Amino acid sequence: MKTNQFISQNELDEQKRIALALSKEIEPRGLTFFVETFGCQMNVRDSETIKGWLCEIGYTEAEDKESADFILFNTCCVRDHAEKRLMGNIGALKELKDARPGTIIGVCGCMMQQEGVAKKLLKRFPHVSLVFGTNVLHRFPSMLQTVLNGERIAVADRADDAIAEGLPKMRDNLRSAFVNIMYGCDNYCSYCIVPYVRGRERSRRPEDVKREIVSLVSSGISEITLLGQNVNSYGNDGSTGMRFADLLRYVSDVPGLRRIRFMSSHPKDLNDDVIRAIAEIPNVCHHVHLPVQSGNNEILKRMNRRYTREHYLSIVQRLREAVPDIEFTTDIIVGFPGETEEAFNDTMSLVKEVGFAAAFTFAYSPRQGTVAARMEDQIPEPVKKQRLSALNTLQAEKTVENNEKYIGHVGEVLVEGCDCRGEATMLYGKYPNFKMVYFPGDPALLNRYVTVKVTKTNKNSLLGEMIHA
Ligand code: 5AD
Ligand code: SF4
Repeated sequence: MKTNQFISQNELDEQKRIALALSKEIEPRGLTFFVETFGCQMNVRDSETIKGWLCEIGYTEAEDKESADFILFNTCCVRDHAEKRLMGNIGALKELKDARPGTIIGVCGCMMQQEGVAKKLLKRFPHVSLVFGTNVLHRFPSMLQTVLNGERIAVADRADDAIAEGLPKMRDNLRSAFVNIMYGCDNYCSYCIVPYVRGRERSRRPEDVKREIVSLVSSGISEITLLGQNVNSYGNDGSTGMRFADLLRYVSDVPGLRRIRFMSSHPKDLNDDVIRAIAEIPNVCHHVHLPVQSGNNEILKRMNRRYTREHYLSIVQRLREAVPDIEFTTDIIVGFPGETEEAFNDTMSLVKEVGFAAAFTFAYSPRQGTVAARMEDQIPEPVKKQRLSALNTLQAEKTVENNEKYIGHVGEVLVEGCDCRGEATMLYGKYPNFKMVYFPGDPALLNRYVTVKVTKTNKNSLLGEMIHA
């Protein structure tokens, strides 16, 4: 059995003391911050912690970058040419720094954990003074203190194992919140940089997860999304005394918690206990984000995904039997090294067969240091582009088909926002199974639950009318 390391209370208290001391200086000066977040929900959640610290340190949030005294980019390196874009964004801040030399510019997040990037960045951009990775958020006050004292620093060690509990957070969303249940990833899918930058997989203690949820719900939040790179392996190392299905049951009885979501699921670890939990627990939403990545067994093997197409389809089938109104969303990569036309067609046929409510589709992008980046048979960019476009066309057709079956559907929607551009104000929100619906209504209903009947569909979305608020 494994035991996890935790950041000690003493260390955390020390950081809180530094934050308080800084706030005596910062607050009277009315200084402001602007944090820009790239990438996934993990980064969104990390930014909430950084913003929480900044508030404790006495900053308030600025309207825009241009007026902020502290500017931070929280970066992602999972796909694309994010690095080039980021360099452009940082370069563009030089003028701002020249005009207002007191402005502090920082860069953090996954990309900073990549070999050598943090130091390189500090060297290349003299107007950047703070660079840090994903595993030192608990030390933010002391890092900022160093910078306020006039030093420039880069802190991005290899991700270590410790879990930090009790860090501050600032949330923008009053209805819905992300709750980490684990950090890191041990799966080493051959295309993926995450295990290298986010470190070894470690699960939080169930009591800590539940305490966070209780506190969120008491502040008015009614929907939570449990977050992890592979939530289905929660506690598999024996460190928590609970597996994922147990955790779902354990947190589900928090009074006032109306919706529990979770992501991402990994097909190799989604077992029958989890299927039963989704079917049996009333407030667990009937939606699974289940990245398939490819529909071809040879490619799945080369991706090191450790399941087959047949296994994936059998999970979908078992879940549909147990939970008839369940919806699936997925992630798919096209143009993985060695993907033949035939292999790609297997992905297309799987997409046809499953009927995903939505698919997030990506052209394979080699990540330095990963196994797939060293594979020989890389696919030319134009072929990737063409496959991506064929896949997107197919998924768009399947989305329309999937929407058709909702005509007449009645269900509870949590109102997320309003679109006031047209003649009538349109509200929008999701059914528990993740389907989004638009309907006319009063913006005062934002963050409330209403019952909506679907009357029409258009290309991407469902349109409906409110039955009662
Ligand atoms: N290239 C393309 N897509 C990738 N993803 C992860 N790494 C890569 C990569 N190197 C996609 C996967 C994953 C999602 C979060 O991003 O589909 O599920
Ligand atoms: Fe990356 Fe695979 Fe881990 Fe997901 S499960 S973060 S794709 S290595």
